[in-house]
Amino acid sequence: MSRNALSLLLMVAITGQALAAPRYNFGRVPTPEEIAGWDIDVRPDGAGLPPGQGSVKQGQEVYANACAACHGDKGEGKRVEGAAP
Ligand code: HEC
Repeated sequence: MSRNALSLLLMVAITGQALAAPRYNFGRVPTPEEIAGWDIDVRPDGAGLPPGQGSVKQGQEVYANACAACHGDKGEGKRVEGAAP
C-alpha cells in the first residue's frame, strides 16, 4: 500500500471514530423550554436583553447607590472586606 493510501485510510478511520456519538448511559435530552431558559446571551448591541426602562442618568444613580461601593466610581474595582477576591 502506498504511503498516501495508508494516510488516507488512517484519516478516515480517525474521523469515523470522532463522528460516532459517544454513549454514556446517563442524562437525558433537554426540553426546548430548558434550552430557552439557558439561552441568556446578550449581544453588545443589546439584543437578547429583556424589555427594560430607564435612562443613563437613572442608571448612574443606581450604580452610585448600589454598585460603586464594591466596583468603584468608574467600575475600576475595589478591595472590599468579606467579598470574593
Ligand atoms: C458587596 C460588593 C458588591 C456590590 C455592592 C456589587 N458587586 Fe458586582 N461583584 C462583586 C464581586 C465580589 C464580584 C466578582 C464575583 C465573582 O467573580 O465571583 C462581582 C461581579 C460583578 C459582575 C461580573 C463581572 C465579570 O467580569 O464577570 C458584574 C457585571 C457586576 N458585579 C455588576 C454589579 C452591579 C451592576 C452592581 C450594582 C447593582 C454590583 N455588581 C454590586 C461585588 C459587588
